[in-house]
Amino acid sequence: MTQPLVSPKPTNRLDPARVDAAYASARAAYVARNPGSAAALHRARQVLPGGNTRSSLWSDPFPLCIESGAGCRIRDVDGHDYVDLLGEFTAGIFGHSSPVLAQALAEAHARGINLSSHTPYEVALAERLCARFPSMDRVRFANSGTEANLMAVTAARCVTGRDKVVVFTGGYHGGFMTFAGGGSPVNVPFDYACLPYNDIAAAEAEFQACGAQIACVLVEPMLGAGGCIPGDPAFLQALRDLTTRHGAFLIFDEVQTARMGVGGAQGRLGIIPDMTTVGKFFGGGLAFGAFGGRAGIMDHFDPSRPGALPHAGTFNNNSLTMAAGVAAIDTYLTAEALDALYTRGETLRAALAEIFVARGLPFRISGMGAIMNIHPDSGMGREVDQKLLALLHLTMQERGYYFAARGLMALSFPVGEAELAGFMAALEQGVGL
Ligand SMILES: Cc1ncc(COP(=O)(O)O)c(C=O)c1O
Repeated sequence: MTQPLVSPKPTNRLDPARVDAAYASARAAYVARNPGSAAALHRARQVLPGGNTRSSLWSDPFPLCIESGAGCRIRDVDGHDYVDLLGEFTAGIFGHSSPVLAQALAEAHARGINLSSHTPYEVALAERLCARFPSMDRVRFANSGTEANLMAVTAARCVTGRDKVVVFTGGYHGGFMTFAGGGSPVNVPFDYACLPYNDIAAAEAEFQACGAQIACVLVEPMLGAGGCIPGDPAFLQALRDLTTRHGAFLIFDEVQTARMGVGGAQGRLGIIPDMTTVGKFFGGGLAFGAFGGRAGIMDHFDPSRPGALPHAGTFNNNSLTMAAGVAAIDTYLTAEALDALYTRGETLRAALAEIFVARGLPFRISGMGAIMNIHPDSGMGREVDQKLLALLHLTMQERGYYFAARGLMALSFPVGEAELAGFMAALEQGVGL
């Protein structure tokens, strides 16, 4: 497991007034350049609150409205093309419009969808997932990573007969279990203990104080939405040891990190949790989630057993997602391809860190494999930092490179060396400070 790579602090002093001026100018240029996206938001606002139905997509002054994509490129409604370095927040690992996935979907559709029963597709996908994750004897499907995590935690609580759920500050397990800043008003009201990430002493203290009440520890091997902060292997191993010792379940949320290798982050780490949740790309680009684990846990969902735990969902086994997932695994998500992508990401991150230092740009970068986050680092507080990040985001968009407003980048397979070289050259030009 690679250690966090965070570039050393650049040394140039920043003038906040220049940051303000550069940001104001980049923002004005953005507004002038994207009338179609502004109009799309105006229309959307009539029927969607804030014109938005997915909070993470919001960015000031308005987000781009993207009308199409092909390979590693996307096009907005004003006709601008971008290299897509966001890859649908890690889910779009295949790039856009894969002919292989299109064919799998067409074939499944031709055989009839909504078949009102079990189908061969779900077994084929389950076999593939169980074969690749050491922790998965059995798996059940859902429609999102959020749902998968809710079901995994619920299973842990029901099977252990305990209530407490240990999570970590900055953790993101879906819209109903998010712990940036410690929690969210829309979180499902489990009895949480929210601990600092990568802090072994805090985890030990929690187990010492109330180990017998802890149903599970739910943890991302790398904080994804929390800024791409890799879990320290010693910390993750300590969680494995503590949960084993106290009879709690260790759940790895691998919704993002499953792409770190054929066995996910757990395969790289050699740490086997009791349960694992996955999502995103394993549905071949369609809505997907799954939770799995040891047979002794998962078989509580066997409906032929008296007192079985229920788990329902009209679209849990929908043929399109199942078929796309199988095609995605067989064609794209091979050990070789995932390892190569991981290495490409590590190389890119090191190169970006070097550019930030060499150019005195006030940014750092963290991550693991091909998922990474650029962090502003003005040394002048949050307000200046936020403007800096927005300035970088707008500037790079203007130069034709698209990533998340919060600094997240996730490479997809079609992003090639030429695109990465172009991105680095664009960064070398700085942000107008
Ligand atoms: C680590 C992690 N867990 C869970 C989720 C939720 O998945 P979904 O958006 O499919 O509900 C996400 C989504 O970004 C995630 O990154």
